[in-house]
Amino acid sequence: MPHRDELDYCPPAPVPPPSRLRLLDIIIRLRRNPLECWSEDFFRDPISKLRLPFMDAFLVHDPQAIKRVLLDNAKNYPKDPIQRRILSSGLADGLLSVDGERWEVQRRALAPLFALRTVNSFSAAMLTAADELVAKWSKLGAATIDVAADMTLITLRVLTLTIFSDGIGGDLDEFSSAMTAYFNVVGRIGALDLLGVPPSVPRPGHRRLRRTMAYFEGIIDRIVGMRRERLARADVPSDLLTLLLKALDPATGLRLDMTEVRSNILTFLSAGHETTANTLTWSLFLLSQSPEWCARVREEAERELSSSDGLADRLIVARAVVEEALRLYPPIAALSRSAVEGDLLGEVAVGPRSLIVIAPYVLHRHRTLWERPNVFDPSRFLPDARAAIPRFSYLPFGIGPRTCIGSSFALQEATIILAVLILNFDMRLSEPADVWPVQRITLRMAKGLPMQLRIRKSTDGATACPPTVP
Ligand code: HEM
Repeated sequence: MPHRDELDYCPPAPVPPPSRLRLLDIIIRLRRNPLECWSEDFFRDPISKLRLPFMDAFLVHDPQAIKRVLLDNAKNYPKDPIQRRILSSGLADGLLSVDGERWEVQRRALAPLFALRTVNSFSAAMLTAADELVAKWSKLGAATIDVAADMTLITLRVLTLTIFSDGIGGDLDEFSSAMTAYFNVVGRIGALDLLGVPPSVPRPGHRRLRRTMAYFEGIIDRIVGMRRERLARADVPSDLLTLLLKALDPATGLRLDMTEVRSNILTFLSAGHETTANTLTWSLFLLSQSPEWCARVREEAERELSSSDGLADRLIVARAVVEEALRLYPPIAALSRSAVEGDLLGEVAVGPRSLIVIAPYVLHRHRTLWERPNVFDPSRFLPDARAAIPRFSYLPFGIGPRTCIGSSFALQEATIILAVLILNFDMRLSEPADVWPVQRITLRMAKGLPMQLRIRKSTDGATACPPTVP
């Protein structure tokens, strides 16, 4: 039987200030770590109002009101200028950022790229990436490594294998560092945003981004050029790039132009990279703190990993751990919208141009919606209990028309990679550990995740899991 202490393990998170912060404190904490802004009342109240200098903000954590904003009356709540500003550098023409008719055309055209059948066909690429990492770590012996950095590399590797199955023809480490640098600069919400200064006014550090964007665009344009030549010869691999170049809106017959193709590749790379890497990093950390759940994931992996058919559906325990990690540390910690017209959220009147913030980080730890909200307990996501979780209380991927198009891809990837790594390695947190959540664009670990690895041997002395590449 697990220990009572283990059942009640509360992983690291800022303790909410007991009362509301003053605007100046909010600005300081927003720059340092937005997670520190949420005072205790937000975790108890359904809707809270905050007066900002030029607008009202409503912090909405009532499932019915969330349903109204993100689903029933979604047209009245487009993405707000802060979210747009954060997304605007380079991704402006991709699915994440466009609005109105342009978004509708793109969403319809891109839907087949992430349909369940297509995503299932990517499990081989996900296993390949996992096996490559097993091989790399196996060579290290009993080493201490930064797991967060390797999760960033492996999720980028999965995306490059599934988007450009014939490779990026460049240095993956360099590409990954450029992505991280990009997020560090773009992901900060500062005083200029809160004061309503338009996105066209340059923010500190943004000048440096131009070089990074030019670097990304150069690589992508070269790869697309080569793929178009192969398309003309009808000699193409079946990957996301081929699907993207062929994508057609069924309603209008429109194809994406080159700017949209480039922006969407960058969008997939950026939206699907750090988010999934953080999910995996938090999952591995949480398992390192819970011998009971680690053993359950390992036992399941030993049983199920021998074949790749329908694999993600059979890894039920690994998936529950991933979903619990997404609850405690949702990579997109807050969603924001702007009200076009006035509206009623329950009994609360919302004026036009109000900022609406729905924070999965707060919602997932809300005292009225979850039992023992700060406790790590993946059993909440085992099949029977999972079915009882109300739909609008758990939103790691958002909900409604703008819900994450890559959610099945991400869940499948994180589940498979987690199972393979836990099967093959004992992973222990290096002491003294300093694990702390911080929100940039994504919610990540402030100082990486240093862990000691030890390869597991099966009884015959072989590694626990021979390569699973089908
Ligand atoms: C654990 C991993 C992931 C998380 C937590 C996540 C989370 C989210 C969330 C919360 C949204 C909605 C934002 C909003 O409503 O304002 C979103 C949208 C989106 N995500 Fe993900 N995402 C993940 C992985 C991925 C992957 C792997 C891809 C693609 C390869 C992807 C592509 C997108 C795109 C294109 C959108 C915009 C959809 C639209 O507006 O129509 N995401 N994601």
